[in-house]
Amino acid sequence: MIGPASSPLVSTRSLRHTWPGSSAALVLGDLELAPGERLFLGGPSGSGKSTVLGLLSGVLAPTDGDVRILGMSFASMAARARDRFRANHLGYIFQQFNLLPFLTPVENVLLGCAWSAERSRRAGATRSLMTSEATRLLGALGLGQRTWSHARTGELSVGQQQRVAAARALIGGPELLLADEPTSALDAASRDAFLTLLLDECARHGTGVVFVSHDLALARHFDRGVTLDGDPRDSRES
Ligand SMILES: Nc1ncnc2c1ncn2[C@@H]1O[C@H](COP(=O)(O)OP(=O)(O)O)[C@@H](O)[C@H]1O
Ligand SMILES: [Mg+2]
Repeated sequence: MIGPASSPLVSTRSLRHTWPGSSAALVLGDLELAPGERLFLGGPSGSGKSTVLGLLSGVLAPTDGDVRILGMSFASMAARARDRFRANHLGYIFQQFNLLPFLTPVENVLLGCAWSAERSRRAGATRSLMTSEATRLLGALGLGQRTWSHARTGELSVGQQQRVAAARALIGGPELLLADEPTSALDAASRDAFLTLLLDECARHGTGVVFVSHDLALARHFDRGVTLDGDPRDSRES
Protein backbone atom coordinates (compact mmCIF):
# COMPACT_ATOMS: atom_id res chain seq x y z
CA MET A 1 0.00 0.00 0.00
CA ILE A 2 2.86 2.43 0.65
CA GLY A 3 5.46 3.59 -1.83
CA PRO A 4 9.10 2.50 -2.17
CA ALA A 5 11.08 2.23 1.08
CA SER A 6 13.23 5.16 -0.05
CA SER A 7 10.21 7.49 -0.24
CA PRO A 8 10.28 10.61 1.91
CA LEU A 9 7.88 10.60 4.82
CA VAL A 10 6.25 13.80 3.58
CA SER A 11 6.70 15.54 0.28
CA THR A 12 4.64 18.42 -0.99
CA ARG A 13 4.96 19.97 -4.40
CA SER A 14 3.81 23.53 -5.24
CA LEU A 15 1.31 23.26 -2.41
CA ARG A 16 -1.12 26.14 -2.17
CA HIS A 17 -4.55 26.45 -0.63
CA THR A 18 -7.26 29.06 -0.92
CA TRP A 19 -10.39 28.95 1.19
CA PRO A 20 -13.62 29.45 -0.78
CA GLY A 21 -14.65 33.09 -0.71
CA SER A 22 -11.16 34.27 0.22
CA SER A 23 -8.73 35.85 -2.21
CA ALA A 24 -5.72 35.07 0.01
CA ALA A 25 -3.64 31.98 -0.46
CA LEU A 26 -1.68 29.81 1.93
CA VAL A 27 1.51 28.96 0.07
CA LEU A 28 3.59 26.08 1.42
CA GLY A 29 5.34 25.18 -1.81
CA ASP A 30 7.80 22.29 -1.70
CA LEU A 31 8.43 20.66 1.65
CA GLU A 32 10.18 17.37 2.29
CA LEU A 33 10.55 15.39 5.50
CA ALA A 34 12.67 12.28 5.86
CA PRO A 35 11.36 9.28 7.83
CA GLY A 36 11.58 10.05 11.55
CA GLU A 37 12.31 13.75 10.98
CA ARG A 38 10.71 16.29 13.31
CA LEU A 39 9.45 19.59 11.97
CA PHE A 40 8.23 22.58 13.95
CA LEU A 41 5.65 24.66 12.11
CA GLY A 42 5.26 28.09 13.68
CA GLY A 43 3.27 31.21 12.94
CA PRO A 44 0.72 33.48 14.58
CA SER A 45 -2.93 32.61 15.00
CA GLY A 46 -4.70 32.63 11.63
CA SER A 47 -1.50 32.08 9.65
CA GLY A 48 -2.71 28.72 8.32
CA LYS A 49 -1.05 26.16 10.60
CA SER A 50 -4.16 24.03 11.11
CA THR A 51 -4.87 24.28 7.40
CA VAL A 52 -1.43 22.80 6.68
CA LEU A 53 -2.17 19.85 8.99
CA GLY A 54 -5.49 19.36 7.18
CA LEU A 55 -3.62 19.23 3.87
CA LEU A 56 -0.93 16.85 5.21
CA SER A 57 -3.55 14.48 6.59
CA GLY A 58 -5.58 14.49 3.39
CA VAL A 59 -8.64 15.85 5.19
CA LEU A 60 -8.40 18.95 3.01
CA ALA A 61 -7.72 18.77 -0.72
CA PRO A 62 -5.31 21.53 -1.79
CA THR A 63 -6.37 24.10 -4.35
CA ASP A 64 -3.05 23.50 -6.15
CA GLY A 65 -0.19 21.07 -5.83
CA ASP A 66 0.22 17.64 -4.34
CA VAL A 67 0.83 15.98 -0.96
CA ARG A 68 2.57 12.63 -0.73
CA ILE A 69 2.97 10.66 2.49
CA LEU A 70 5.35 7.67 2.24
CA GLY A 71 5.26 8.13 -1.52
CA MET A 72 1.48 7.91 -1.77
CA SER A 73 -0.55 10.80 -3.12
CA PHE A 74 -3.88 11.54 -1.42
CA ALA A 75 -5.19 12.77 -4.76
CA SER A 76 -4.82 9.26 -6.19
CA MET A 77 -6.88 7.61 -3.43
CA ALA A 78 -10.64 7.16 -3.13
CA ALA A 79 -12.20 8.43 0.10
CA ARG A 80 -12.21 5.02 1.78
CA ALA A 81 -8.58 4.33 0.87
CA ARG A 82 -7.66 7.74 2.26
CA ASP A 83 -9.37 6.92 5.57
CA ARG A 84 -7.58 3.58 5.74
CA PHE A 85 -4.21 5.14 4.88
CA ARG A 86 -4.70 7.78 7.55
CA ALA A 87 -5.68 5.20 10.21
CA ASN A 88 -2.63 3.06 9.39
CA HIS A 89 0.09 5.67 9.08
CA LEU A 90 -0.92 8.92 10.80
CA GLY A 91 -1.43 9.87 14.42
CA TYR A 92 -3.16 13.18 15.09
CA ILE A 93 -3.28 15.21 18.30
CA PHE A 94 -6.10 17.72 18.03
CA GLN A 95 -5.91 21.08 19.74
CA GLN A 96 -9.08 20.23 21.71
CA PHE A 97 -7.97 16.57 22.01
CA ASN A 98 -11.32 15.10 20.75
CA LEU A 99 -11.31 12.40 23.43
CA LEU A 100 -14.44 10.48 24.41
CA PRO A 101 -15.21 11.85 27.90
CA PHE A 102 -17.09 8.84 29.30
CA LEU A 103 -14.41 6.30 28.40
CA THR A 104 -11.37 5.59 30.56
CA PRO A 105 -7.93 6.79 29.43
CA VAL A 106 -6.98 3.25 28.37
CA GLU A 107 -10.17 2.89 26.30
CA ASN A 108 -9.45 6.22 24.62
CA VAL A 109 -5.90 5.18 23.78
CA LEU A 110 -7.07 1.89 22.27
CA LEU A 111 -9.26 3.87 19.86
CA GLY A 112 -5.99 4.79 18.13
CA CYS A 113 -5.86 1.19 16.86
CA ALA A 114 -9.57 0.68 16.33
CA TRP A 115 -9.59 1.38 12.60
CA SER A 116 -6.20 -0.02 11.75
CA ALA A 117 -5.20 -3.68 11.55
CA GLU A 118 -1.62 -2.53 11.00
CA ARG A 119 -1.41 -0.42 14.14
CA SER A 120 -3.26 -3.09 16.16
CA ARG A 121 -0.66 -5.62 15.08
CA ARG A 122 2.22 -3.33 15.98
CA ALA A 123 0.63 -2.60 19.37
CA GLY A 124 0.57 -6.33 20.17
CA ALA A 125 -2.45 -7.69 18.22
CA THR A 126 -4.37 -9.13 21.17
CA ARG A 127 -6.59 -7.04 23.40
CA SER A 128 -4.47 -7.76 26.45
CA LEU A 129 -1.13 -6.91 24.78
CA MET A 130 -2.62 -3.76 23.28
CA THR A 131 -3.89 -2.76 26.73
CA SER A 132 -0.37 -3.29 28.14
CA GLU A 133 1.03 -1.07 25.43
CA ALA A 134 -1.63 1.58 26.14
CA THR A 135 -0.71 1.65 29.83
CA ARG A 136 3.01 1.68 29.02
CA LEU A 137 2.48 4.69 26.77
CA LEU A 138 0.36 6.56 29.32
CA GLY A 139 3.05 5.96 31.93
CA ALA A 140 5.85 7.00 29.58
CA LEU A 141 3.95 10.21 28.79
CA GLY A 142 3.65 11.00 32.49
CA LEU A 143 0.10 9.98 33.40
CA GLY A 144 -0.15 8.43 36.87
CA GLN A 145 -1.20 4.81 37.08
CA ARG A 146 -4.20 5.51 39.34
CA THR A 147 -6.11 7.17 36.52
CA TRP A 148 -5.44 4.69 33.69
CA SER A 149 -8.45 2.46 33.87
CA HIS A 150 -10.68 4.08 36.47
CA ALA A 151 -11.29 7.74 35.85
CA ARG A 152 -13.54 8.98 33.11
CA THR A 153 -11.30 10.83 30.73
CA GLY A 154 -13.61 13.88 30.83
CA GLU A 155 -12.88 14.30 34.55
CA LEU A 156 -9.11 14.59 34.06
CA SER A 157 -7.21 17.87 34.03
CA VAL A 158 -6.23 19.45 30.71
CA GLY A 159 -2.63 18.33 31.21
CA GLN A 160 -3.73 14.74 31.85
CA GLN A 161 -6.08 14.71 28.87
CA GLN A 162 -3.27 15.92 26.70
CA ARG A 163 -1.24 12.85 27.64
CA VAL A 164 -4.17 10.58 26.79
CA ALA A 165 -4.55 12.28 23.40
CA ALA A 166 -0.84 11.87 22.72
CA ALA A 167 -0.90 8.18 23.68
CA ARG A 168 -3.89 7.59 21.40
CA ALA A 169 -2.04 9.24 18.52
CA LEU A 170 1.14 7.21 19.12
CA ILE A 171 -0.15 3.71 19.87
CA GLY A 172 0.85 1.25 17.17
CA GLY A 173 3.78 3.45 16.06
CA PRO A 174 2.36 5.47 13.14
CA GLU A 175 5.03 6.79 10.75
CA LEU A 176 3.84 10.38 11.11
CA LEU A 177 2.48 12.34 14.06
CA LEU A 178 0.60 15.56 13.35
CA ALA A 179 0.12 17.70 16.45
CA ASP A 180 -1.98 20.87 16.50
CA GLU A 181 -0.94 23.16 19.38
CA PRO A 182 -1.36 20.40 21.97
CA THR A 183 0.62 22.31 24.60
CA SER A 184 -1.13 25.67 24.40
CA ALA A 185 -2.97 25.20 27.72
CA LEU A 186 0.20 24.41 29.72
CA ASP A 187 2.70 26.61 31.53
CA ALA A 188 6.22 26.77 30.11
CA ALA A 189 7.79 24.19 32.44
CA SER A 190 5.06 21.57 31.87
CA ARG A 191 5.17 22.30 28.14
CA ASP A 192 8.87 21.52 27.85
CA ALA A 193 8.62 18.43 30.07
CA PHE A 194 5.69 17.05 28.08
CA LEU A 195 7.35 17.76 24.76
CA THR A 196 10.48 15.92 25.86
CA LEU A 197 8.43 12.82 26.80
CA LEU A 198 6.44 13.04 23.56
CA LEU A 199 9.53 13.27 21.36
CA ASP A 200 11.28 10.44 23.26
CA GLU A 201 8.28 8.24 22.57
CA CYS A 202 8.32 9.24 18.87
CA ALA A 203 12.01 8.33 18.66
CA ARG A 204 11.27 4.89 20.07
CA HIS A 205 9.19 4.02 17.00
CA GLY A 206 10.91 6.26 14.45
CA THR A 207 7.76 8.36 14.20
CA GLY A 208 8.26 11.62 12.28
CA VAL A 209 6.52 14.73 13.56
CA VAL A 210 4.92 17.90 12.28
CA PHE A 211 4.23 19.95 15.40
CA VAL A 212 2.27 23.16 15.13
CA SER A 213 2.49 25.99 17.64
CA HIS A 214 2.40 29.78 17.83
CA ASP A 215 5.08 29.49 20.56
CA LEU A 216 8.40 29.78 18.74
CA ALA A 217 10.30 28.95 21.96
CA LEU A 218 9.39 25.29 21.35
CA ALA A 219 11.19 25.17 17.99
CA ARG A 220 14.49 24.23 19.65
CA HIS A 221 13.13 20.75 20.42
CA PHE A 222 12.87 19.96 16.68
CA ASP A 223 15.21 19.07 13.82
CA ARG A 224 13.89 21.87 11.65
CA GLY A 225 11.45 24.77 11.67
CA VAL A 226 9.22 26.49 9.17
CA THR A 227 7.34 29.67 10.00
CA LEU A 228 4.17 30.84 8.31
CA ASP A 229 4.36 34.60 8.09
CA GLY A 230 1.04 35.87 9.19
CA ASP A 231 -2.58 36.10 8.28
CA PRO A 232 -2.88 34.60 4.78
CA ARG A 233 -5.49 37.26 4.06
CA ASP A 234 -2.55 39.67 3.97
CA SER A 235 -0.35 37.57 1.72
CA ARG A 236 -0.31 38.28 -1.98
CA GLU A 237 -1.51 35.70 -4.42
CA SER A 238 1.20 34.29 -6.55
N1 LIG B 1 -13.14 26.10 7.08
C1 LIG B 1 -12.70 27.32 6.73
N2 LIG B 1 -13.36 28.07 5.80
C2 LIG B 1 -12.90 29.27 5.45
N3 LIG B 1 -11.78 29.84 5.92
C3 LIG B 1 -11.09 29.17 6.84
C4 LIG B 1 -11.49 27.87 7.30
N4 LIG B 1 -10.58 27.42 8.21
C5 LIG B 1 -9.66 28.40 8.32
N5 LIG B 1 -9.96 29.44 7.51
C6 LIG B 1 -9.17 30.68 7.37
O1 LIG B 1 -7.86 30.33 7.00
C7 LIG B 1 -6.92 31.10 7.72
C8 LIG B 1 -5.96 30.18 8.44
O2 LIG B 1 -6.65 29.47 9.44
P1 LIG B 1 -5.95 28.32 10.30
O3 LIG B 1 -5.36 27.33 9.40
O4 LIG B 1 -6.98 27.85 11.28
O5 LIG B 1 -4.79 29.13 11.04
P2 LIG B 1 -3.99 28.79 12.41
O6 LIG B 1 -4.15 27.35 12.70
O7 LIG B 1 -2.56 29.20 12.11
O8 LIG B 1 -4.57 29.67 13.48
C9 LIG B 1 -7.70 32.03 8.62
O9 LIG B 1 -7.77 33.29 7.98
C10 LIG B 1 -9.05 31.37 8.72
O10 LIG B 1 -10.06 32.31 8.89
MG1 LIG C 1 -4.94 26.39 14.37
